[in-house]
Amino acid sequence: MSLKIKKALIPAAGLGTRFLPITKAVPKPMLSVLDKPTIQYIAEELISVDIEDIIIVVSPGSEVIGKHFGPAEALEARLLSDGKKKLYDIERETQRFNVKFVVQKVANGLAGAILCAEKYIKNEPFALLLGDELMYASGKEKPCMKRLTEIYEMTGKSVIATMEVFGDDISKYGNLGIGGEKDGYFEVTEIKEKPSVNEALSNYALVGRYVLSGDIMSKLKKLKPRNNEIYLTDALDEVAKKGGLLAAPFEGIRYDVGDKFGYIRANVEFALRSKEIGEDTREYIKQLAEKL
Ligand code: UTP
Repeated sequence: MSLKIKKALIPAAGLGTRFLPITKAVPKPMLSVLDKPTIQYIAEELISVDIEDIIIVVSPGSEVIGKHFGPAEALEARLLSDGKKKLYDIERETQRFNVKFVVQKVANGLAGAILCAEKYIKNEPFALLLGDELMYASGKEKPCMKRLTEIYEMTGKSVIATMEVFGDDISKYGNLGIGGEKDGYFEVTEIKEKPSVNEALSNYALVGRYVLSGDIMSKLKKLKPRNNEIYLTDALDEVAKKGGLLAAPFEGIRYDVGDKFGYIRANVEFALRSKEIGEDTREYIKQLAEKL
């Protein structure tokens, strides 16, 4: 079977309760960092690995996400007739992907969201990008998805992104048991979901970027629910214990935009990098800092 990754899956059907009340009517993937919805940043991570076929798992009532990635003839015609070619190009960028949508009727966990897309994934390997994390890489850094797909294509094993966290923070993440290291990636021996500091297996936490071989689907189907959800980490733990899972630290910055502070941090840092408002933002933050 080919080891080339051709499809990506973005589960974005969570309830987004940490962002109520905005998520009552606006799907969380449409919350914007500066002028772009978070879901578009995530889709753009796939440009570095030439993946254009994207499946987004959404909650019921998320049609606006389809609208965002779809055509907008009247707006385009108006932008062109007004001579706003730059804005026209920005709008056209949203249509570069071949996006399919699957509705997850009941939010029964990440594993449930992945299973909803089974008819598109079949038994092929796929990239998995969680819909509430953004990965930023500067021009000098290798994008996270590029690193993961390279390792998958080299080894044929499922691979997940990881980062080191310190102190109590490990209890917020999936935690990895680490085996042998080679060329900057590790074997994963075990995964523990949100352990206490004393029970932690290592400092390595799971990050929401993965390349998974297609046989994960059959493992997901056998999972038993806990707290009304089925957990991807339960299936990955099984893969790890059989020696089939690798983990790689990534270059760049991860933003947890599903969390209020992570979301504000992303907005501030993207604003600082912006050609349009970067200088003004820098000046403003300096002045503000003097008053704090
Ligand atoms: P979270 O655990 O952050 O949950 O999901 P959430 O519902 O989005 O947010 P809160 O905690 O209620 O504020 C992690 C990722 O998995 C997706 C989410 O959309 C998010 O991208 N997910 C989670 C699903 O697609 N379906 C689910 O049933 C659960």
